[in-house]
Amino acid sequence: MISWRIRKLEVSPSTNDTAKAAAESGEAEGLVIWALQQTQGRGRRGRVWESPQGNLYTSLLLRPSGETQNIGLYAFVTALAVADAVRDFLPQAEITLKWPNDVLVDGKKISGVLLEASSDWLVVGVGVNVMNSPSKSLYPCTSLHEQGAGQPVLDKVLDALLSHFAHWYDVMQTRGFGSIREPWLARAKTGSVTVVLPQETIAGTFQGIDLQGCLRLRLADGTERAIATGDVFFEPRVE
Ligand code: BTN
Repeated sequence: MISWRIRKLEVSPSTNDTAKAAAESGEAEGLVIWALQQTQGRGRRGRVWESPQGNLYTSLLLRPSGETQNIGLYAFVTALAVADAVRDFLPQAEITLKWPNDVLVDGKKISGVLLEASSDWLVVGVGVNVMNSPSKSLYPCTSLHEQGAGQPVLDKVLDALLSHFAHWYDVMQTRGFGSIREPWLARAKTGSVTVVLPQETIAGTFQGIDLQGCLRLRLADGTERAIATGDVFFEPRVE
């Protein structure tokens, strides 16, 4: 099982950038960058990730072996770990997963994951809304606090995340993506979705994910399409 070395910072521009610099300077797997605040927090597709004090901002440095040809599969590993950590604080909540790596509580996004990789490292950046939800977001959002978890101590949230991540990372490394895909699918939010792609927006029904981690979408004409990247909306889109 991976063992973690936590480096805590009052502030980082982006914990992913701090972790990437450490990776490039040869740090071993298991480094955890944790910042109380980010000044240039980044989301997927170059979006801003609001990063005030009160939420969790962390990046894990990994050097995975095996199925590294598809680093994107670690999105699902991470989503399972975040979902389990959220469950520790909200045992009664309805927690679902939205492709590729969002964790929803009561249908609202509570976390974000940003994967960045080179040929010999993977940085898994995780933001969890602990005390605050972002003021601007593409999706309806929530936080552990809003969902009734009180005022969770950030290092407990980080501990939960790291311990669940270590488990799912071990499953991925020892048993492969098939053993991640099944539990991910069991928790996936299903139904009709709108998928916003760089060039088009399409509607369809969620059919699961394939062995490459692509979203399988059933279109109105009955055909199926595999989607590698896009933004998925279950609810009417928030602009
Ligand atoms: C998303 O768009 O949903 C992904 C958001 C990822 C945010 C986290 S916070 C820790 C790490 N550092 C960053 O700058 N981004 C990620």
